[in-house]
Amino acid sequence: MSTRKFAAIATGMTLALTLAACGGGGAGSTTEEEPGDEGTTTEESEGGLIGVSMPTQVSERWIADGDAVKAGLEEAGYEVDLQYAGDDIPTQSQQIDQMITKGAKLLIIAAIDGTALAGQLDAAAAAGIPVIAYDRLIRDSENVDFYVTFDNYNVGVQQGTALLHGLGLLDAEGNEAADAPAGPFNIEVFAGSLDDNNAHFFFDGAMETLKPYIEDGTIVVKSGQTNIEQVATLRWQGETAQKRMEDLLTSTYSDGSKVDGILSPNDTLARGIITALQNAGYTEMPPVTGQDAEIASVKLIADGVQFSTIFKDTRKLADQSVTAAQDFLAGEEPEANDTETYDNGVKVVPSYLLESDIVYADNIQALLVDSGYWTAEEVASGQAEG
Ligand code: BGC
Repeated sequence: MSTRKFAAIATGMTLALTLAACGGGGAGSTTEEEPGDEGTTTEESEGGLIGVSMPTQVSERWIADGDAVKAGLEEAGYEVDLQYAGDDIPTQSQQIDQMITKGAKLLIIAAIDGTALAGQLDAAAAAGIPVIAYDRLIRDSENVDFYVTFDNYNVGVQQGTALLHGLGLLDAEGNEAADAPAGPFNIEVFAGSLDDNNAHFFFDGAMETLKPYIEDGTIVVKSGQTNIEQVATLRWQGETAQKRMEDLLTSTYSDGSKVDGILSPNDTLARGIITALQNAGYTEMPPVTGQDAEIASVKLIADGVQFSTIFKDTRKLADQSVTAAQDFLAGEEPEANDTETYDNGVKVVPSYLLESDIVYADNIQALLVDSGYWTAEEVASGQAEG
């Protein structure tokens, strides 16, 4: 019998015992997160403590991730210490230190600054605690044992493809449009936080996709700002993107010209950019891309305001991290499907990459509602019902 299978059976047994102990009330039903709280620890359980460190509760995706990882681990019989760091690097370091002190057997970490946790990871390694990097790679440390994420370069390719579709240059399948307009189109490009390894992958994938159109003059980045350092958004702050868009409109578009499209790396930034455009009097929105399928943006897409987003099913990512945790704790190496891409500066971290999908108005139902990610009511109201 494979260890993987054995672990699954063992987990099933633990789950059965946990459920029995709870009188059928469900495992770990004790916790409710308050925004900005200190995190929560559930009742003692057989499997031991696992520390889960998340960056922030400002972007709703991390709340969904935290909840899903916690629920999955509890179902598998572990006790969970879930902490959010309010996008503050020292807070995240401290929270991880505390998890180690409390005797965590394993850590699952979505880093704020991918280069700032080497000290914590050294301490974890010294205590024999495996570390799984969650969604964002932790850099400059030998002690990252595994990485669960999406194919981040391809997310960028999908964002570039969505923008080209929005401009009418590609069709919905990503093929050259038969009746493609000649352009030229004025666009502006945005990137995420430079200390987030993913931001570079998203940007590279998107820019590589736009490159032929920029080179042949079909697309013009009118501000001339095309380096990631010029277009990055510290800590992925929506207000920062809004301010940069406002500045661009003043500096580059006060000659009566219009912005025809925006590459935005995620939904939070997309909404800031859209606000800037609306405040400047744009009634017809140019295509603005996104990522995360946040409910507020899904509604904007349904309403024809934001053009697209990228759906990364956080439930699948959470499952993958739980599987990897179980493997480590059963003394096994988790199964990687990529052992080449994610060099963290010290080593290539074995990774499990998930696939993502482009969401447009006409496939919200198929991708997001039919899969149970959001309900039709949530899409209509733009608010998660929890
Ligand atoms: C994640 C994105 C998210 C961004 C901001 C990235 O590391 O992969 O899904 O939009 O962080 O939170």
